[in-house]
Amino acid sequence: MKKISLTGIKPTGTLHIGNYFGAIKPALELAKEYDARYFIADYHALNTVKERAELSALIRQVAAGWLASGLDPEKVIFYRQSSVPETFELTTALMAFTAKGLMNRAHAYKAAVQDNIEKGDDPDAGINMGLYTYPVLMAADIILFDSDVVPVGKDQVQHVEMAQDIARTINFNYKADILKIPQAAVQESVAVVPGLDGRKMSKSYGNTIPLFAPEQELRRLIMRIVTNSQAVEEPKDPETSQVYLLYKLFATPEEREALAARYRRGGMGWGEAKEELFRVANRELTPIRNRFNEIIADSKGLDETLARGAEKARRIASQTVSRLRKAIGINF
Ligand code: TRP
Repeated sequence: MKKISLTGIKPTGTLHIGNYFGAIKPALELAKEYDARYFIADYHALNTVKERAELSALIRQVAAGWLASGLDPEKVIFYRQSSVPETFELTTALMAFTAKGLMNRAHAYKAAVQDNIEKGDDPDAGINMGLYTYPVLMAADIILFDSDVVPVGKDQVQHVEMAQDIARTINFNYKADILKIPQAAVQESVAVVPGLDGRKMSKSYGNTIPLFAPEQELRRLIMRIVTNSQAVEEPKDPETSQVYLLYKLFATPEEREALAARYRRGGMGWGEAKEELFRVANRELTPIRNRFNEIIADSKGLDETLARGAEKARRIASQTVSRLRKAIGINF
């Protein structure tokens, strides 16, 4: 029996190539080794996305983006959090075993409070209960599917530790292994993707290349990447060039070496280096962009895919919840 991995995807922004190399590709690799489950954390997104049309569009876009990037819904389980109502029943049960003090220590909540204090606002200004109890909903996502490992970035480790803490409290109270204790798998080696301005590519810096940018826009954005003022004939250091660091992500090992040699030799200008980057980027992104456009155009097909995933997910979820209901004395 394979171990179970679970990946939660918060649909709060349009996917960019930083997400693709930093999150999507490594997460899809898990399907080789694990019984992999992926879900769109739409109720987590609701904490920040309050505009109906925007939330609906983001859910569909992000789902289509993962499918276009190679997620195979026949081989893994792919669903929306909101399609599994057991999540919310489990959340309520977990609440009874979650210390309020534990939530007070959550980094995201603490950062929001700190922000308010620095601005001279009320410490809880603008903080909703969704943000405050975010870790409990996330613990329910994880525990519901008997997850062995949860691959996360460093910023999410504390949340997985809280899920462990809550699950242990329940097992201890009923003196039985009712809930599986999940482990965080911190993804150390994932690529850092430089953005257009040289900083890490991130929605909050406004320096992204959208994953589904049409060819013309992809080209235009690549031509905008900041470079230094070295002349064409000067030898250049590939490893300190954002253009080369992006090129490396898309190129084959042979292509990487060949272009690095051209950098070091001199005689190649930034315009030419960018043309090379555009060529390899467009080669990898064209099929993904085409699949994405097909999936988005067929919203009924996409909804059916997600509905089939939800059915598989609910079969597992209902077992966990009925196990817990029995243990706590609500089913008799
Ligand atoms: N909190 C995660 C993020 O911001 C998303 C998420 C929600 C998640 N539930 C999860 C991740 C369960 C892993 C497991 O990225």
